[in-house]
Amino acid sequence: MKIEDCMADFQIPQHLHYMDSAATSLIPEPVIASMNEYDRQYRANVGRGMHRLTRVATQRYQDAHDSISSFIGGNKGTTVFTKNTTEAINMVAAGLEWQPGDRVVTTIAEHHSNLLPWLRLRQKGVEIVIVRPGPDGIFDIDIFDEAITADTRLVAVSHVSNVLGTVQPVHEIAATCKEQGAYFLVDGAQSVPHFPVSAQHMGCDFLCFSGHKMLGPTGTGVLWMRNAAISPLISPLIIGGGTVDDVTTEGYTLTGGYQRFEGGTPNISGAIGLAQAAKYLESLGMDAICRHEQKLTKRLLSGLANIDHVTVYGPHNIKNRIGVVSFIIDRIHPHEIAYLLDERVSILVRSGDHCCIPLMRYLGFENGTVRASLYLYNTLEEIDLLIETIEEIARMV
Ligand SMILES: Cc1ncc(COP(=O)(O)O)c(C=O)c1O
Repeated sequence: MKIEDCMADFQIPQHLHYMDSAATSLIPEPVIASMNEYDRQYRANVGRGMHRLTRVATQRYQDAHDSISSFIGGNKGTTVFTKNTTEAINMVAAGLEWQPGDRVVTTIAEHHSNLLPWLRLRQKGVEIVIVRPGPDGIFDIDIFDEAITADTRLVAVSHVSNVLGTVQPVHEIAATCKEQGAYFLVDGAQSVPHFPVSAQHMGCDFLCFSGHKMLGPTGTGVLWMRNAAISPLISPLIIGGGTVDDVTTEGYTLTGGYQRFEGGTPNISGAIGLAQAAKYLESLGMDAICRHEQKLTKRLLSGLANIDHVTVYGPHNIKNRIGVVSFIIDRIHPHEIAYLLDERVSILVRSGDHCCIPLMRYLGFENGTVRASLYLYNTLEEIDLLIETIEEIARMV
């Protein structure tokens, strides 16, 4: 299928121009249909019992794990379904055994979900080192080389900034982590939906991302772990039904694989919907999606660059960035700009701190930014409408 042909699959009111996909993407009809099919035709619990519906549901649920592993090039690892990226990161932060003096390296550009779980480890005597990017949001690899020392236990970095759209040098960071014997956790919330990501090839140990940002249902996310040697080191947050090999009144033996981490009845229709979303993206081609978004981003960046009183943050060319574009207009609050875009032309963007308060302070964005975040269903016509309307609003200054 071609990208231009998929618009009809997204059935939001057609007059709305949705540019808030970094928060949550729209969902296409085939994903909704796959979840309805489960609820209507083979709804049953999974991993329990022998009747025909539970067998079908269990098979589809396992297939969903396989599809997602393959989507992120991670077939050799363990793919655990979570509620979202936040839960996946917390599972690692809370699940590893920490010793006083351990060191975690992260960055000031992280979403709160990839910062708070590490900051909390200070209570256990863990040292948290926070590195800072240059003004365009790009990290020099030397900064990581310096910060990642032999006593660094884990490095946690977002692949793509949800404020600046910048793509971080994860391959290089992975190589440094390997040299120093540190685990590498990549927050892929803003990368996995937008360009081909291969977890195995990238060299990370953990990859966390959200289903609802990649055309899947809300309440879905993924924690991928590199190999069978890593998952036993993570103590599951929740244990109970489905997570054990054996139980006596004295104790229990936890099972392996994804089952170890998915205690209780999981979000079965969500998992099936998420796998369908990955298939949908694959049918369009992640490379084609990336090219489409680059075309839109290029037009938006060059359009905004020519407007007086508008400042765009992040790199001004499309190299090493995605279609997450943050900007401000002098003397107009970002919330007001977002409100005017909606009121005047039904363009829906996000405004505020984007759950990145330390980054906002570091870059001096007092009231945050306006953020337009683009996806495969956006068009050049919509970008032109955004530029035109920003021009009008900027004339009010
Ligand atoms: C880079 C990044 N990490 C983590 C998250 C948290 O995602 P979720 O709310 O799905 O847990 C987000 C959400 O915007 C994000 O952009």
